Amino acid sequence: MSTTTPSIFAPVSTPAFAIRELAFVVLGITAVIFLVVGGLAVYALIRFRRPRTDDGREPPQVYGSRQIEQAWTVVPILIVVVLFLVTARYIYAIEGRPQPADAHEVTVVGHQWWWEIRYPKLGIVTANELHVPVSDKPTFITLQSVDVIHSFWIPQLAGKMDVIPNKTNRVWIDPKRVGKYVGQCAEYCGLQHAGMLLTVTVHSTEEFARWVAAQQMPARDDVKAREGRELFSSLACVNCHTVRGTTANGVFGPDLTHVMSRSTIGAGVIPNTPETLRAWVDDPSALKPGALMPAMKLSRNDLDKVTAYLLTLR
Ligand code: CUA
Repeated sequence: MSTTTPSIFAPVSTPAFAIRELAFVVLGITAVIFLVVGGLAVYALIRFRRPRTDDGREPPQVYGSRQIEQAWTVVPILIVVVLFLVTARYIYAIEGRPQPADAHEVTVVGHQWWWEIRYPKLGIVTANELHVPVSDKPTFITLQSVDVIHSFWIPQLAGKMDVIPNKTNRVWIDPKRVGKYVGQCAEYCGLQHAGMLLTVTVHSTEEFARWVAAQQMPARDDVKAREGRELFSSLACVNCHTVRGTTANGVFGPDLTHVMSRSTIGAGVIPNTPETLRAWVDDPSALKPGALMPAMKLSRNDLDKVTAYLLTLR
């Protein structure tokens, strides 16, 4: 898939198009101000340079000019009011959009430092990699946090929205183009704020249906990984992680039912490969300092077994 830049100037979804439009309006107005002020400053610098014949006397002073004071008070206020009204109009247009009955629904929960992604209507739980169909039907995203304030931001799809404990926020996206779009947490939330990345994969309708069907499957029960599965079930892993169809039903960490369908570990900090997965289970802090998952202190043999089991969870 093509590498896309997290640029607000390359929108692919209605709220992001609106934000770019607004950015151009604001840039246009401020560019005019810049040129007028800068032009006057340059003109004054050149026109009123100290002449060689200067007699050193103070020039006539302008003081207490009501017209000038009124002008430099009223004009900036008018400019700010215009910027405010234009911005307010865009905000209301985006945030005020009612949710259509047939909209796709996703709940994204911010954690230190990863994103839990739930599809309540579809019975899917995943992490850090949001999948949506390309569509005129928007996807409405409910935002919640279990710990501190995070901010959900995919620049090409929509504006930033804070993710606040005990408050539910909402954003919506309607990506017009299939592809992969990158985003990140945009509110400082602790040590691994910078390691709280997310991607949005926009699929064609058929591809999305296939993804949904695969995610809805229960976890694979590969006979070759039975030993690892039993070991996993006997360890503290199950207190934090869910593997659907097993005794593991923790909700503190990411759902691992289809962990191998995800391309990264640790919310985007490293690619998900057999080697990095093994290293992660061994000691997450070595790869993501501050990660809340503890090092499991497994023997090398047990580590291999647990990793082998996790690798079957496609
Ligand atoms: Cu979560 Cu910054």
